[in-house]
Amino acid sequence: MERTPEPDHPIHDLIHKRWSPLAFADQAVSDADLRSVLEAARWAPSCFNDQPWRFIVARREQPDEYARLLSCLVEKNQSWAKSAPVLMLSVAHLDFAKTGKPNRHALHDVGLAAAQLCLQATALGLSAHQMAGFSQDRARELYAIPDRFEPVAAIALGYAGDPNQLPDDLRARDRAPRTRLPQAQLVFSGTWDHPLE
Ligand SMILES: Cc1cc2nc3c(=O)[nH]c(=O)nc-3n(C[C@H](O)[C@H](O)[C@H](O)COP(=O)(O)O)c2cc1C
Repeated sequence: MERTPEPDHPIHDLIHKRWSPLAFADQAVSDADLRSVLEAARWAPSCFNDQPWRFIVARREQPDEYARLLSCLVEKNQSWAKSAPVLMLSVAHLDFAKTGKPNRHALHDVGLAAAQLCLQATALGLSAHQMAGFSQDRARELYAIPDRFEPVAAIALGYAGDPNQLPDDLRARDRAPRTRLPQAQLVFSGTWDHPLE
């Protein structure tokens, strides 16, 4: 926790504790815990309750499936994510299921589901690390993802491991202080760029 400064305002401990590790322990995630993190995602709010999220899951216990999902990641991400016992890919349905009209908030809602997944993981002592670095084309091809469904993010899930198992550059990243922009740059009132007072 020493990498994480105190928040400027009080936040829930779960949010404070969540982070994205690069090293994962050689410890399996139980079926029950995996189902719980996916259940947390399932209960996310969404525009018109359309639930546009889908998740493709691969566990190390199924080596072919695991290798398939790992092969979608860019090399740099493969180099550390291969230590995670579970890999996932989130996918967004870009059209509303009921009307077939474009859902402008599909990616937003998949992000919400992913956030809930991450916090449930934290509550269970697990960690999730999301990744933009993967090939959408490869994922689409390997998993026969239909048109109007968009691969959004890969997610590595497991127990945080010993950063000493990482090469120097990744270890430095894993140990670097965590930073956030101040609220004054993020939260406005009255007009654009005018910080909330
Ligand atoms: C949508 C998304 C894409 C990301 N892509 C990558 C990635 O490809 N590789 C990586 O190592 N980390 C990736 N990250 C992790 C971020 O770098 C990390 O969340 C950020 O630095 C804040 O650190 P924290 O999660 O430990 O608070 C991604 C995170 C998100 C939410």
